Amino acid sequence: MKLKIDQLLEETQCFQASTMDELEQFRVKMLGKKGELNDLFEAFKTVANEEKREIGQKLNVLKNAVQEKIDVIKNSLETTETVSENTDLTRPVNDFVSGSRHPIALVRKEILDIFSRMGYVVAEGPEIEDDWHNFTALNFPPEHPARDMQDTFFVEKNGVNDIALRTHTSSVQVRVMEIQKPPIRAVFPGRVYRNEAISVRSHVFFHQVEGLYIDKNVSFADLRETLLYFAKEMFGEETKIRLRPSFFPFTEPSAEMDISCNLCGGTGCPFCKHTGWVEILGCGMVDPNVLENCGIDSNVYSGFAFGMGIERMTNLKYTVKDLRLFSENDLRFLSQFS
Ligand code: DAH
Repeated sequence: MKLKIDQLLEETQCFQASTMDELEQFRVKMLGKKGELNDLFEAFKTVANEEKREIGQKLNVLKNAVQEKIDVIKNSLETTETVSENTDLTRPVNDFVSGSRHPIALVRKEILDIFSRMGYVVAEGPEIEDDWHNFTALNFPPEHPARDMQDTFFVEKNGVNDIALRTHTSSVQVRVMEIQKPPIRAVFPGRVYRNEAISVRSHVFFHQVEGLYIDKNVSFADLRETLLYFAKEMFGEETKIRLRPSFFPFTEPSAEMDISCNLCGGTGCPFCKHTGWVEILGCGMVDPNVLENCGIDSNVYSGFAFGMGIERMTNLKYTVKDLRLFSENDLRFLSQFS
């Protein structure tokens, strides 16, 4: 008898019904005149006296469990029925908030799309980089200040084989040239790290897009035309560019490129400090030493490279000045880009 009670208790606990009919069948089976509980109470009369107490308690537990189960299911079926009867199914759903792309992702895509249209492929490299790819192969002399603890986050500092967070995406140039023979026409987007105090104008990480074009007979004129096309696509047909001599260890000659201020159109405003020009990127002809370091014959091939900051481009496109906004996840800022 105890076994029977336990079985029915388990059946009750597992029972589910999706209609009132199913529930009624369960009620009749358990509590009906010829139901399981009546049978059990009948049999209870013949139970030996010393067992009466224990079995009686068990029977009561079962009876209560059945009643409670019926009440709960009945209740929930009734409420679902009333809700669906009173619900206007033609009512429009509540507004839902859709997300938006991050401004850095938007501008990154725009830059990559422009270069894709010129036949550039996209490649990426590791953010944790060794000394060779980040500095040495790029012609940085051993005592160059960029290698200093003050500028670079080192992961492991053990002499020739230092491991650091890459300080620029120029490291990907080396990785690509090491495994691919020219012609190479590629852009490398990615995050870079520098050990700087976080402020409106500087951050410990930011984003760059690097470009590389290596082939026979590539000239500075090709570099200029490529960047002019890019500037017009990015900032408008009327945009002008200007190349100023500069220095980078991995390019010779090197230049910095300005565009005519896209806010005042070049007439001078506070944004361009009344010069009419704003700086947007660094570039140059790849230094023959770099080609040789990567196993490319510099007597046969030449090429150009350029690198730009995505935050800088975003600042120019959307006039976002404070770099910290890009990593603070403030929805009031981010939702403006939907
Ligand atoms: N790597 C440089 C930086 O982080 C940017 C740069 C300048 C990249 C000139 C280039 C280049 O490819 O040719 O400041």
